[in-house]
Parts: sequence; structure tokens; C-alpha cells
Amino acid sequence: MTARLAVLISGSGSNLQAIIDACRSGALDAKVHLVVSNIATAPGLARAQKAGIKTAICEAVEGESREEYDARLVRVVQRSGPDLVVLAGWMRLLSLPFLTRFTGQVVNLHPALPGEYPGLHAIERAFEDSRSGTRDHTGVMVHLVPDEGIDHGPVLASEQVPILADDTLESLAARVHAVEHRLLVTTLVTLIAAPAR
Ligand code: GRF
Repeated sequence: MTARLAVLISGSGSNLQAIIDACRSGALDAKVHLVVSNIATAPGLARAQKAGIKTAICEAVEGESREEYDARLVRVVQRSGPDLVVLAGWMRLLSLPFLTRFTGQVVNLHPALPGEYPGLHAIERAFEDSRSGTRDHTGVMVHLVPDEGIDHGPVLASEQVPILADDTLESLAARVHAVEHRLLVTTLVTLIAAPAR
């Protein structure tokens, strides 16, 4: 049965594009029914519109709590009736009102290995550490989001990404993003074939 996806983005949407392309090619037995961005100017919205996918913008409102925001986000996302909610370059922490509404259905992509570099600027931080000689690799992981832990949760897939001596931040980021695009799709294929719920 073709899985119904809601994809949450905040930026360029290159991982969203990987999902769109995989659905179109048939590699992923899924359909993106909704793309939501918390940033009205996110370039990823244009990718969704170009693919004929419904989009919604859910911007933070001055002074509202995380829980109030997430209650609004629940109302937007649940209208699409998703089987999976995919956080693809989504830059907000989700609180329990959202996560308990979509138990077992929220999947996050993070450009670091399990337990390493949680939070923002993970690629930059790994790159800096490599320049000080303390590491020669970083990685990518895809995990379920059962609770409010930051880039934490049952790991569905992870893959190491080498950091080369002559890397720049840009060359490393490009290598990490290429792994993200592939790992996110293959993990969704597996998850849809054998739901983790
Ligand atoms: C990716 O590294 C993603 O993991 C991070 O933001 C970057 C850009 O993602 N959260 P995208 O191009 O917006 O999919």
C-alpha cells in the first residue's frame, strides 16, 4: 500500500527532493501529500510546488510556547493523514503534543553519527574537530523521534562519511549531503516495507 508522507522542512529541501525523485521513479512506494515549512521563504517549498505537492507554512508566532506552536502544527499535518512524518532539514525541536499525536511515525535525518554532534551545525563541528586531528570521519543517521531528545531516538540507519585531509567545509558538506539523500530514501523504503510501529 503506497505510504502517505508528510515532509517537514526549513531550508533548501535537497532531502525533500531526494524523496520526491524516489517516489517518482518508483524506488519508494510512497506519495508526499504535504510539505510543511516553518520558514516562509524556504527554497524547498518551490521544489514541492514544482512537483505539484500541497504546501503549508507554519511560522512561529511571537510569544507562543513550543507546545502552542506544536498544537498548530499537529492540526496542519494531521489533515494530510500521514503514515510517516519525515523531518528533512527541519530545524525546530518538536514537543510531546506533536510526537504523541504521531507516535512511531516521526522520522528524523541528522548529519552525524548516533550520539555525536546533536543539534545545529553538526557538519561544521565535525569538520573543526578533523582540523584539530581528533577525527577522520563523521556520518549520517536516520532515527525515530519518540520524545524530545535532541537528534536522539531509535536509530534506523547510519553511515560513516570520511573526512579527507584536503577537505574544505564545502567538500565535506557535499559528501555528507550525498549520503543523506541516499540513506534517507533507503531507510524509508525499509521502514515502509516493515513498519516500525
Ligand atoms: C541537511 O544536512 C539536514 O540534515 C540538515 O539541514 C541540511 C539541509 O537539508 N538538518 P535540506 O537540503 O534542507 O534537505
